[in-house]
Amino acid sequence: MSDSVLSFINDGIAELHPYEPGRSIDEVIAKYNPAKVVKLASNENPLGPSPKAKEVLTLSVDALHLYPDGDAKELKEKIAKLEAVSTKQIVIGNGSNEILELAARAFLNNNSSALMSKHAFAVYKIIAQVCGSKIIEVPMIDWRHDLENFKNYITGDTRIVFIANPNNPTGTYNSHKDFKDMMQNIPPSVLVVLDLAYYEYVEAEDYIKINELLDEFDNILITKTFSKIQGLASLRIGYGIASTELCNILNKIRQPFNANFLAQTAAIKAIDDHEHIEKSKKLNTSERSRLQKSLESLGMECIESQGNFISFKGSFNAEEMFVSLMKEGVIVRPIGLYDMPDFLRVTIGKPEENDYFINHLSKLL
Ligand SMILES: Cc1ncc(COP(=O)(O)O)c(C=O)c1O
Repeated sequence: MSDSVLSFINDGIAELHPYEPGRSIDEVIAKYNPAKVVKLASNENPLGPSPKAKEVLTLSVDALHLYPDGDAKELKEKIAKLEAVSTKQIVIGNGSNEILELAARAFLNNNSSALMSKHAFAVYKIIAQVCGSKIIEVPMIDWRHDLENFKNYITGDTRIVFIANPNNPTGTYNSHKDFKDMMQNIPPSVLVVLDLAYYEYVEAEDYIKINELLDEFDNILITKTFSKIQGLASLRIGYGIASTELCNILNKIRQPFNANFLAQTAAIKAIDDHEHIEKSKKLNTSERSRLQKSLESLGMECIESQGNFISFKGSFNAEEMFVSLMKEGVIVRPIGLYDMPDFLRVTIGKPEENDYFINHLSKLL
C-alpha cells in the first residue's frame, strides 16, 4: 500500500494559515443586506483607477488573444524613468506580492530562516513557510519596526529580511537614517526586501531615499505596487528594483507572461497620471488626519499612520464590532491574524464614506 500523495507535501505547507482577504461587498450584501455598503477593508484607492488607465483599457480588448510582452519593455522604460534606474534593475510582477514570492523562491528553503517584525505584513510569513524556511520575529517598539535590533536576530542561516515601510497593518514608518543604519549592520549575504507598497502616501520628510540605498547596497530589493495609489489592485501589477544581477535571477524564475496585457497597458498610463496620483494623495492626507481626530474624539486609541489606513482600538471586542459594523454596511478589517486582536484597521475613504463609518461606529459604542 502506498502513502497518499498528501503525505508528501513540502515542509511548512500543512501548518499554513492562508491569507484572509477583507470581506467583499457582494459577500456582505448576501449575508446582511444593508441599505448601503462602504468598503474600507483592503487599503484600496477610494477614487478608483486612474481615468487615463480606464480609457486605454476599453481600447485594448481587441488584442486579448495575443500574449503580452513577456519582457514588459514599455512599462519597464516608464518605471526606469520614474525611479531613475536602468531597465535592467527592474522586475515586473503579478502584483508586488509576486516579487516577494520570487525572492522567497530564490533564497529560502528548509535550511534557512527569514526575519521580519512581529506585526509584519502577513504574506511574508506565508511565502517563507511555503519554502520550508524558519521564521524569526523581531518585537516592535511602539508599533514600529525596531530596526536597530534586527542585527541581533540574524542567524547564520538567515537569508531574507522582510520590511514594509510604512508597515501594514500598523501604518508606522521608519526613517531613512534608521533604515541605513540597519543596513550597515546586516551582512551582505542577507537579502533585505524593502516593501514600499504605501510609498506615495508618506508625508514624513525623513522618509526613505530609494536611490541612495540602491547605490550603496547590493543586497536590497525594493518592491512597489500599482494596487494602492494607482488604484489598479484588481489587475495585479507591481515591480521590484534591485541590482541587475539580482533582477536577472528573479527574471529567470518568474513565469514568462506573469504580467498580463491589460495590467501592463493600464500601468503604462497610470504611472504618468500625476493628476490622479496627486488628487489621491491629497485626499488621503486630509482625510487621514480628519478620521484620526474623529476616532480619537470617540475615545479610540489610534496608531499614527503614514499609509492609507489607520489601525485603532476601543473598549469593545474588535471581532464583535467588526460584525456589528458589517451589519450596518461598513466593512473594516479585524487584525487578529497580525497578533493585534484588540484592533480594527480602517482604510481612508472619501469624506462621505469616512463619515458613514464614523456615524455608525459612534452609534454602536
Ligand atoms: C505591505 C504590503 N505589501 C504588499 C502588498 C500587496 O500588494 P500587491 O497588490 O501589489 O500584491 C500589500 C497589500 O495590501 C501590502 O499591504
